[in-house]
Amino acid sequence: MHTQVAILGAGPAGLLLAHLLSLHRIESVVLETKSRSYVESRIRAGVLEHGTAQLLCDTGVGERLKRQGMRHKGINLGYSGEIHRIDLSDLTDGKAITVYGQHEVVKDLIAARISSGGKILFEVDDVCVDALSTNRPRITFRHQGQDCELTGDWLAGCDGSHGVSRTSVPPGALRVFEKNYPFAWLGILAEAAPSWEELIYAHHEEGFALFSMRSPSVTRLYLQCKPDEDLSKWPDERIWENLERRLSFAGSKKVRRGKILQKGVTTMRSLAVEPMQYGRLFLAGDAAHIVPPTGAKGMNLAVSDVWFLTRALADFYSKGRTDLLESYSNSCLRRVWKAQRFSWWMTCLMHRFDHDDAFELRRQLAELDYLTSSGAAATALAENYVGLPWEG
Ligand code: FAD
Ligand code: PHB
Repeated sequence: MHTQVAILGAGPAGLLLAHLLSLHRIESVVLETKSRSYVESRIRAGVLEHGTAQLLCDTGVGERLKRQGMRHKGINLGYSGEIHRIDLSDLTDGKAITVYGQHEVVKDLIAARISSGGKILFEVDDVCVDALSTNRPRITFRHQGQDCELTGDWLAGCDGSHGVSRTSVPPGALRVFEKNYPFAWLGILAEAAPSWEELIYAHHEEGFALFSMRSPSVTRLYLQCKPDEDLSKWPDERIWENLERRLSFAGSKKVRRGKILQKGVTTMRSLAVEPMQYGRLFLAGDAAHIVPPTGAKGMNLAVSDVWFLTRALADFYSKGRTDLLESYSNSCLRRVWKAQRFSWWMTCLMHRFDHDDAFELRRQLAELDYLTSSGAAATALAENYVGLPWEG
């Protein structure tokens, strides 16, 4: 089998790339190790930047997003028992974020690909990539009990943080930048109507908490926990008690409880590789960079990467030019590093690092006070949160 662009991974990066390429009449095949139902129900990100939502709507995959997505014009910062609103729209010329689950984006993209005859092979196994520095990079894999081979003019590594594409690049060809954090998030999805209308990022002496949502009847909540946290030590009652303490603000409602539909622990790290290309392999999304979820940037970066890649491939197929392919990595990395900085900053601002470090606690509280009392500081937060321009 040969195609123009062979894509590894049916997450937001791989699926959106296949969709955008098809609008330029560029053929692709997507290979995915998991099943369709698994990727369509995997609960992950929930916040779409202004530009992400706009791109999905402008390219014809935003119908459900427009109906079911919740447009939020602000977020809240909670600290010292009080809640402070950051008016994102006022501070960014009317921009906003949309709360819409990543799995819903994935469902919309799969439906669009399948209805336009696009090829996605789910449940592939034993995936290996090679011949990356030739003009026919190759993927071998097993599908439905058969040994298969797919070659492409180009290969897009959109296979996430545990995929094979990044690790198939010869040692030394990519430089890896990495930072680990001494905590994780315990996340739950609960059958409960959201208590507040907008997200709350809460700083608390026991640790960070985040209030978010997925729909008018489903709440998404997170608690800072240990990286090796044992979920069996977190019965539902303990989770709710912790959330109630950390999300308790003077004169405000309480977090509404409901049946817990899902529980999980998410580890936190920052990682970036440079360049995001080796030979004819282009890395995009979590395959190239990971951010801690505090800034809500991961899925949004996956989207901007594949926008740059589509533009470069479209230029190659329509005009035979390779300059945008050559500058793909640099174009993405400018944006990636700003999102890395923002995600690291939000993470350091909101979490408890060392419980004995009283100086650090005072510094965080002073910074939160500054952010919620200075227009300049709040604007810096708001423009990063709704998403910086994709270029420039
Ligand atoms: P993925 O979504 O990981 O997709 C990669 C795909 O490749 C997967 O389907 C995987 O099964 C498949 N795959 C793996 N190996 C292979 C292989 N060898 N061959 C073929 N396929 C393979 N981001 C935000 O923007 N906003 C948020 O609010 C946010 N919140 C988050 C909350 C949590 C709890 C977590 C865990 C993440 C969050 N993120 C958030 C990050 C976001 O989910 C990721 O950045 C996003 O999934 C990246 O998309 P991707 O397509 O690059 O990778
Ligand atoms: C989510 O709704 O899952 C979510 C929201 C904001 C974040 C991270 C995750 O920063």
